[in-house]
Amino acid sequence: MREPSLNEESSFQYKKGKLFCEDVSISQIADEIGTPLYLYSHRALLSNYERLKGTFRRLSPLICYSLKANANLTLCRILAHLGAGADILSGGELYKALLAGFPPKRIVFAGVGKTRQELEFALRKDIFMFNVESQGELELLEELSRGLDGKIRVSLRINPDIDPKTHPYITTGMRENKFGLEMDEAEKLYLKLKDSRNIVSKGIHFHLGSQITRIEPYLRCIEKMSKFISHLRKQGVDLEYMDMGGGFGIAYRQKESPLDIEELASQITPLIQERGLKLIMEPGRYLVANTGIMVTQILYRKRRKEKKFLIVDAGMNDLIRPVLYGAYHEIKKIQQPKKTSPMEVVDVVGPVCESTDFLAKDRSLPQSRQGEYLAIMDAGAYGFSMASSYNARLLPPEVLVKGEKWILSRRREVYSDLTKTEATSLEEENLIPSYPLPFVKLQGSGNDFIVVDNRANLIKDGGSLAMKLCPRKTGIGADGLLLLEESPRADFKMRIFNPDGSEAEMCGNGARCIARFAYLKGIVGRRCRFETLAGIISCQIQGKKVKIGMEKPQDLRLNLRLSVKGEIYEGHYLNTGVPHFVLFTSRVDQVPLKELAPSIRNHPKFRPQGTNVDFVQVEKGNTLKVRTYERGVEEETLACGTGAVASALTGNLTCGISSPVRVKMKGGDLLVYFEGAKDNSFSEVFLEGETRLIFEGKISEEVENV
Ligand code: LLP
Repeated sequence: MREPSLNEESSFQYKKGKLFCEDVSISQIADEIGTPLYLYSHRALLSNYERLKGTFRRLSPLICYSLKANANLTLCRILAHLGAGADILSGGELYKALLAGFPPKRIVFAGVGKTRQELEFALRKDIFMFNVESQGELELLEELSRGLDGKIRVSLRINPDIDPKTHPYITTGMRENKFGLEMDEAEKLYLKLKDSRNIVSKGIHFHLGSQITRIEPYLRCIEKMSKFISHLRKQGVDLEYMDMGGGFGIAYRQKESPLDIEELASQITPLIQERGLKLIMEPGRYLVANTGIMVTQILYRKRRKEKKFLIVDAGMNDLIRPVLYGAYHEIKKIQQPKKTSPMEVVDVVGPVCESTDFLAKDRSLPQSRQGEYLAIMDAGAYGFSMASSYNARLLPPEVLVKGEKWILSRRREVYSDLTKTEATSLEEENLIPSYPLPFVKLQGSGNDFIVVDNRANLIKDGGSLAMKLCPRKTGIGADGLLLLEESPRADFKMRIFNPDGSEAEMCGNGARCIARFAYLKGIVGRRCRFETLAGIISCQIQGKKVKIGMEKPQDLRLNLRLSVKGEIYEGHYLNTGVPHFVLFTSRVDQVPLKELAPSIRNHPKFRPQGTNVDFVQVEKGNTLKVRTYERGVEEETLACGTGAVASALTGNLTCGISSPVRVKMKGGDLLVYFEGAKDNSFSEVFLEGETRLIFEGKISEEVENV
């Protein structure tokens, strides 16, 4: 076994005893969002693209990234931005390519089985080139392009019958493979196309296969195609483009040699230039394979007489290449092994119920323990893009690292993703009993909530359930009912119902409680985003503490004077998700809140929606003492998150207190973070506080009769 020495240029290097991607420790990401996960390096992607472009610069080819290798939107966006085009195989890939920003004039479309709908979609978008693979497809294109403005551009995909000497499953350019047209068949079609009113033949296309590590097959094929092009020219068919497909092989093991692209470029440049052709290429693997790894955790170790198994949390559904092609992916420990650490021969296997579920067989690895993370290297190509949900497993998240930063490019699936395209009629016909309905009670700074996972949509009327459950004597007792529901825009949606049955837009303490609930139930990781009626909330969970990003506060009105019961009260209005009226006072404990607050809450100035009311006393050290009367609850509550934020922000504007502000409420302390601007606006507003899980239980159907 060789030492885990890493290529100097690699974006994946050991630093301080841990494997890093660029400047981020991989174990930190894994700790935070869990495993398995895919991780990509921005720097590696950039350098692969620039290297390819530089190597072939004398031909200035159109580099069409083959989306099938990895259609992750973030990666696609980066490549589109660098000026790459796209090679697509399906309507879905076209959709993603357009969304990522690849201009239609740089999109080429290959595939033996393009459907009528897919062709129509591509015609509507006026993509650059259809790489046609059969006579039938050409006839259909002819029919569909009738009546369009201008002619559409096609290349015929030739099956050159050349063995690229790669794995038989990824060989595409041999006669026995389904791809492309034979040369004499293609010749007839080219000649026929001369008379076409709707179609112009622009080029010739081939693709020999994938993971090709020798340049000879390319040279032979380009030679063959060049001759064919000259032969066609003599018959009046003048082709402009040669599309050489993809297939550039990489080194999955250090002892392997990748395709020598420098040599390939230097040999083909004269051939292409001589004939005045323009070059298109469709690299997939070359651009993304070594930009990505899959990170997995060792769940268990198992020992047999003849074998040792490392059972990890990623399976063949996450990375199928080892099983499907016997592909080799190097495996590294995230914790750098010591030079002296003993080696062992293991099978690295996943949790899927198939004996073929392995990532490596008889692999010699430095000894590792249960709970350790492993990196499956070079998994950026045909990794996630071939992943499935077999065994109802959740598709893993994808992360992009750039320097010291990382972003969650795709969140981990949650259970409800598994059923979102399935019919839900069972539940509509009441075949799934909704009772007993599990719930959790949590409290955040003195606000208590009943939280129910309503992703199956069993609760149709949250308002009426809240009215039954919130009363302390006849229900469970709570300041509100929180429903966690599906969201098309974020990890989940929070709906919050007051005890009077009304639905609130947002509640800071409620938001923290539901985030903790989602985390405890495995619905989200430590960071998540969720939808509320007041917008998307981002959130970080650390133990009991939950910190949420608040929407930008709105409708600030300072020094508003209200006349209440014949007296004038001055305060500040601010909407921090819900409306708040904040009054500063020197002795908050003595404010006759019960008498005063309802009249302010219902004051004509705040109609029709009314307002919450906060009484605030400034203390030393950026600290506020706050009492809040909450609309909907219609009394003073022990704490109110949006009220704490409104108090801190108006306190900043009128009393000069600065971030972070400690807000003391009866139910506990909250911390408010923010950045203020000169124009009295705020950004980066965060609310942090503790949440507590009080109990879990089941709601019985008798609640219906309350
Ligand atoms: N162009 C066409 C028409 C293709 O069919 C392919 C890949 C490419 C370009 C990109 O090939 P690349 O540069 O990535 O080698 N799942 C297999 C590879 C299948 C390749 C399919 N066609 C694997 O994991 O090895």
